[in-house]
Amino acid sequence: MPEKIIIDCDPGQDDAIALLLAMASPEELELLGITAVAGNVPLHLTERNARLMCDLGRRDDIRVYAGCSKPMVRDLVTAENVHGDTGIDGMQVTKPAVPLQSQHAVDFIIETLKKAGEASITLVPTGPLTNIGMAISREPSILRSIKRIVLMGGAMREGGNYSPSAEFNILVDPHAAKVVFACGRPITAMGLDVTHQVIATKDRVARIGALENSAATATAGMLSFFNRHDSAKYGFDGAPLHDPCTVAWLLQPDLFEGKDCNIAIETESPLTIGHTAVDFWGISGREVNATWIHSVDADGFYDLLTERLARYAD
Ligand code: BDR
Ligand code: CA
Repeated sequence: MPEKIIIDCDPGQDDAIALLLAMASPEELELLGITAVAGNVPLHLTERNARLMCDLGRRDDIRVYAGCSKPMVRDLVTAENVHGDTGIDGMQVTKPAVPLQSQHAVDFIIETLKKAGEASITLVPTGPLTNIGMAISREPSILRSIKRIVLMGGAMREGGNYSPSAEFNILVDPHAAKVVFACGRPITAMGLDVTHQVIATKDRVARIGALENSAATATAGMLSFFNRHDSAKYGFDGAPLHDPCTVAWLLQPDLFEGKDCNIAIETESPLTIGHTAVDFWGISGREVNATWIHSVDADGFYDLLTERLARYAD
C-alpha cells in the first residue's frame, strides 16, 4: 500500500523537484493533495508553480490548494534573490492547465485528516510551516491521524542560510515551527546539515538533462539557475537540493542517517529568531521530539532522482 501524503510547499525550484520526485513514485506514495504556502515567493506564485508541476508530471488528477499568504505572527520574507522572480526561474513558465481548488489549504488539511484513520497520513512540508501550524492550532484533534511529519527545515552544524543561526523555512515562520515541533507526532527533520550534502554538481545536472524528457529538461534548467546563486554563496560546485530530501527519505530511508533528539525553536531573540536548538548530545533533559537527519549517500540520492525523472519519458 502506498503511503498517503500531503506535500505542503512553496515552490521554489527545490520544492518543484520534490513534487516531480513524488509524482513519479505512485507505487510508494499516494499524493492526496498539494498545499501551497507563501515563502520563497508570494502565495499566488507558489500555488501557480505547484500546478505547473502537475502539468509537467502529467498528473491532472492531483489537487492543488492555496493556503496562508503570510506567517502566523511575523511579516512575510521571500527569497527571489535565490529562486528568481517566478520562484522557478530556469524553466519555461506558462499558465497552468491544472486548476486551483477553491478550498483553503488549511481547511483541506483539517478536513482530510479529520476523515482519516489513526496515524494514516504523512505530512511533507518543504516550506515555512504556516499551513501546518495553523491547521494544528485550529483543530488539534487532527493530530491523531498524522502518521509522521517529514519536513525540510532547520540547521545545526551548518549554521543558518538566512541569518547566521537560522534556516529560511524556520526563520520565515518560527511561531508555526514551534507549534509543529511541539505537536507530539513523529517528526523527521531534514536541515541544512544534510541538505548541504546533496550538491547538484554539473555532472549530476548533465545526467538529468541527458534524459531528454520535458520534466527532466525542466529540472536541469531549474538546477542550472539555482546553482548560480548557491555556488557563489557557498563555494560549492552547485546548489544543495534541499526539499527533495524529504521525499527521497520516504522512498529510500536507508540512504540517510539520523539521531533522535529534542529540537526547540527560538521565537523571541532578535539575534537568533528561527534558530533550531538541536539537542544532538541530549544535554537539555528535554524529551525527544524529532529525528534529526545528519548524513546522506549523495550519489544514491542522485541515482534515485535520475531514475525517477527518467520515468517521465515523453
Ligand atoms: C529552504 O528554503 C528555500 O529556499 C528552499 O525551497 C528550501 O525549502 C532551504 O533553506
Ligand atoms: Ca521550499
